[in-house]
Amino acid sequence: SAGICRRRVGRRYNTVATATATLEAPTEILRKDYQQPSFFIREVTLTVRIFDGRTEVASRMLLEKNTGGSLPLDGEDLKLKKVLLCGKELKEGEGYTLEKEKLIISADALEAGDSTDLWLETEVEIEPEKNTQLSGLYFSGSMYCTQMEAEGFRRFTYYLDRPDVMAKFTSVRLEADESKCPILLSNGNRIDSGKLEEGRHFAVWSDPFAKPSYLFAVVAGDLASIQDKFITKSGREVHLEIFAAKEDKDQLWHAMRSLQNSMKWDEERFGLEYDLDIYNIVAVKDFNMGAMENKSLNVFNTSLTLAREDTATDDDYERIEGVIGHEYFHNWTGNRVTCRDWFQLTLKEGLTVYRDQEFSADMGSRARKRIEDVRILRAAQFPEDNGPMSHPIRPEKYAAIDNFYTATVYNKGAEVIRMYETLLGRDGFRKGMDLYFERHDGNAVTCDDFRSAMQDANGRDLSQFERWYLQAGTPTVTATDAWDAETGTYSLTLKQTVPDTPGQMDKLPMQIPVRVGLLDRESGKELMRDTVLELCEESKTFELKLDETPSGRPVPSLLRGFSAPVKLEYDYSDEDLSLLAGFDTDSFNRWESMQRLGSKAVLDAFKTEDIDSFQPDATFMDAMKRIVQDKVTDDLSLIAYALILPTESTLMQQAKPPIDPTRLHEARNRVRKVIATELEDDMRKRYDELTPKDDEKYVIDGPSSSQRRLRNVLLAYLCTSGDAKAAELCGKHFKTAKGMTDKLAAFSCLCNIPDSQEAKEAIEQFLADANGDANVIDKWFASQARADVDDLLPRVKKLMEHPEFSLKNPNRLRSVVSVFISSPQFHLPDGSGYDFALEMIPKVDALNPQVAARMANGAFRTWRLLDEKRQKMILDRLADLSKAGLSKDAAEIVSKMQA
Ligand code: PHE
Ligand code: ZN
Repeated sequence: SAGICRRRVGRRYNTVATATATLEAPTEILRKDYQQPSFFIREVTLTVRIFDGRTEVASRMLLEKNTGGSLPLDGEDLKLKKVLLCGKELKEGEGYTLEKEKLIISADALEAGDSTDLWLETEVEIEPEKNTQLSGLYFSGSMYCTQMEAEGFRRFTYYLDRPDVMAKFTSVRLEADESKCPILLSNGNRIDSGKLEEGRHFAVWSDPFAKPSYLFAVVAGDLASIQDKFITKSGREVHLEIFAAKEDKDQLWHAMRSLQNSMKWDEERFGLEYDLDIYNIVAVKDFNMGAMENKSLNVFNTSLTLAREDTATDDDYERIEGVIGHEYFHNWTGNRVTCRDWFQLTLKEGLTVYRDQEFSADMGSRARKRIEDVRILRAAQFPEDNGPMSHPIRPEKYAAIDNFYTATVYNKGAEVIRMYETLLGRDGFRKGMDLYFERHDGNAVTCDDFRSAMQDANGRDLSQFERWYLQAGTPTVTATDAWDAETGTYSLTLKQTVPDTPGQMDKLPMQIPVRVGLLDRESGKELMRDTVLELCEESKTFELKLDETPSGRPVPSLLRGFSAPVKLEYDYSDEDLSLLAGFDTDSFNRWESMQRLGSKAVLDAFKTEDIDSFQPDATFMDAMKRIVQDKVTDDLSLIAYALILPTESTLMQQAKPPIDPTRLHEARNRVRKVIATELEDDMRKRYDELTPKDDEKYVIDGPSSSQRRLRNVLLAYLCTSGDAKAAELCGKHFKTAKGMTDKLAAFSCLCNIPDSQEAKEAIEQFLADANGDANVIDKWFASQARADVDDLLPRVKKLMEHPEFSLKNPNRLRSVVSVFISSPQFHLPDGSGYDFALEMIPKVDALNPQVAARMANGAFRTWRLLDEKRQKMILDRLADLSKAGLSKDAAEIVSKMQA
């Protein structure tokens, strides 16, 4: 974009423009500009002295000359006290210069010290209590804790804060008041501890593995913990400990079991063993993201750690298991082998998401997990790929790297990894992984290194595959077919197009694995073994050999298992889809066929004049009925998911712009209502069958949670009427719920009928039962903030006046503001939802830029798909926002949105 000014690198973007000035976009750094550091840091010792209101950080670094010259260390919000080089104090202007976010050690000073070991020492002071950004060292309730990824370490001490600088942190000495911070933790092993004067104490930690600064962590506080162990496959005993605030201690065991399962799984599936004697996890209440893989000291958001049957839903249990796995798996994919630079983020994240998906698939149901993952991809990543933030899984440029922890880097990144597995086979993929570790253990590498390992281990040319890393946008694969009954030849033509995205036009064809099967249109029988077709050209025709003689033109089952992150188009008739929904051997495509039918129904409703009298096609209604009555499918979750219509965010990507989102919401509701009315008796019958007996125990396992899932989907349908009967059913469901899953399901339905007596009582009861548990209170807020009611915005504003609401705690903030922003009500025709965002974003930004940037992105990224009136309203708000003096993080989003 125009007006990029190189001199602004590293400066906070906070210019307040006059009304007439054109705003500059924040400065971007480019992938192609990568340069090695002038020096490496090989060894570090740190002393961290925590006092009330201020913390001193002293560091001693052993430098190693690389390309040489001066040494620009990163630093942000640090008070510099002292700099010494090889024991000699340097003065500003003599040996070093200080810029806003750099401490530059001069080449002269470094040359002078060249003969001996180059030890550089600094002393700084910081104020963790005032750190509301939650990056660097901050204070959260019962503890001090750090978040260093991606660039938080520079807010802790001066450093080469980049992942290709890997150092051994040989000694990290922590000192604090013993009564306030009895627990002192860092990475690696505790090698010393003891008492100091004035009620203070210390602990010294040492990590034998070299690591980049983003994997460093410190925790100091008054915490409770649970302990257990894991014996690795080679017989080493690992001490496992999970810490949390004292009141949360009884909610840690699910996390512990998940950790043990992860450790075992990685040994079995990838032959990867844990490499230290200690593995600690700390749960913290104030956290920007989900969790963090710091070496041997993971830090987790409490929302992804704490679980008890009365505080966490089945989905929470599964998510916790998945994220505990994810952070554990990072120990190899991320920590032992890390990223050369942040453009390579998907190297560790895409791969680790793929690994956690596989873990969850093995722990629960593979079929169900695949559906869940694709649902997330379509609802979160497809809109991103089709909006102003669209970027390849390996971005080419960024202003704030925090803005690139995206569904594209993570979830599409995982799909790209999955395609290697599809192309190379499971064994071939494993060979590639083994070679990757053999070559790169202990190093900071690139996505190209990963691809080379896959290629070399399998003797395959994967050069075209690089385009998945280079080109943004969701490709569309269009299939057409021909059937020659005479010769019995079925031919399938696949065509691909990769859409233009901001800054990227005229793309090249991708290498796309398309898994296909063929079904007999009469019997639904499979006509050939399922096959992976490789589409590498713009268009290609494949002749498929049938194993059996079909009764007529076969029905193709395309993109089985969602074998590539693309949109697949084929002119299916409703009958084809209904056949696939009933008979496909691929469980993913059975679900997919129902989704296609569901989308058709909603989009047809969307197009009709009078939505309120819309009737979906009979084929769809019959298929729904069959599913409600289905007693053959043993995984009840598959039935539940088949009954859920595509999300609005997914439908937004399928409808033809310009889209009125309020109308789309009405259309989806209309289809739900018709289903609920026509199938009421069947649904009610099934619901009753699934209702647990009074004396039935609440169990958390796959089958029980699937049973609850289906029953709760049925409950939601049975409540669409919003009448007295619905309120009564919900009220009863709520009162008889034995665990959080059922309670929350009923509570959410009740929030849609807020004026009913049952709802009023539940709203009080739920909060009282929460008994101060923050995660439960978040659910209480979120259910109300996403209620399907006309006056949602005033209700949300009222929620924000509640004494439990806070702008400072990201979970609480998200449970109200972010939840509202992604609701259909956000798009109120009068623009009041947009005004609300305009008011909130700068307020949040002043406290926490990362969270504000995400909020701005979530609010406005679909604006181009909307109708003209809304587009204009949003553009006005964006123009206002760009004058609001936002942080670099938020400014990058706001400027991309307008580009
Ligand atoms: N690296 C973390 C993960 O994916 C995510 C994270 C990024 C957490 C940045 C905090 C800050 O597991
Ligand atoms: Zn990760």
